[in-house]
Amino acid sequence: MKTTTADFVSMKKNGDKITMVTAYDYSTAKLLDASGINSILVGDSLGMVMLGYPDTLSVTMEDMIHHSKAVSRGVENALVICDMPFMSYQTSVYDAVANAGKLIKEGKAGAVKLEGGAEFKEHIEAIVKASIPVCGHIGMTPQSVNAFGGFKVQGKDEDAAKKLVRDAVALEEAGVFAIVIECVPKKLAEYISKLVSVPIIGIGAGNGCDGQVLVYQDMLGMYSDFTPKFVKKYAKVGEIMVDAFGRYIDEVKSGVFPNESHSYKIDDEVMNNIIEWGEKL
Ligand code: KIV
Repeated sequence: MKTTTADFVSMKKNGDKITMVTAYDYSTAKLLDASGINSILVGDSLGMVMLGYPDTLSVTMEDMIHHSKAVSRGVENALVICDMPFMSYQTSVYDAVANAGKLIKEGKAGAVKLEGGAEFKEHIEAIVKASIPVCGHIGMTPQSVNAFGGFKVQGKDEDAAKKLVRDAVALEEAGVFAIVIECVPKKLAEYISKLVSVPIIGIGAGNGCDGQVLVYQDMLGMYSDFTPKFVKKYAKVGEIMVDAFGRYIDEVKSGVFPNESHSYKIDDEVMNNIIEWGEKL
């Protein structure tokens, strides 16, 4: 059954934890959907884990549309949420609505996610008015990495914690259906989860949230550039891949692969005729 934004809200009410993982391509999205995940996030983290940038700032609308389309083609049931990339909504309310619309119309996403708190209330309200579901994102918002001076835990002192609480309330008032809260102390995230009616999806925010999200390359051990403390590795897929690539290289070099079972046959008579014909060339 297709997961909707309304399901997110009823899952929170029923205490049923919401599961979300990122994907950026058709095959991974199909596997995730088959696993029964509630939601797939086409995160702008694709800038780092798919495109090799040091942060998410270079990601474009074209990148997001391209990957969102691919993911959406692989999904039957999960809710596909697509990130609004850096400078696609910060510039004006008009840009925010126009670009959110593109992610839905061209990217085929079911909802959009954007980073920031009360300062983007007007932008979110306008997108929601255009009938586009919005997921908020507060705490360690990677598009603000330069303003934060690095990927750092947020909301640790009283002022910062109060700002996070105010931001969550502002996003709820603006009409978001969920809020991702990244890299904040567990007790603060738990407090915010109880305070607001919309589901709080945590990443590096402890288990008191209404759901969890992880980047799939992180949880499968496929991205070694940087692993935050909050990541749990559920498999060593990176090691399995390097081992398989290595065995392939060995077998190609030694002639073990491909064998008869991987090869196509031709009738002996046809082949003999080709050889005879070739000799006369
Ligand atoms: O871009 C992304 O993958 C995200 C998650 C880390 C929440 O925003």
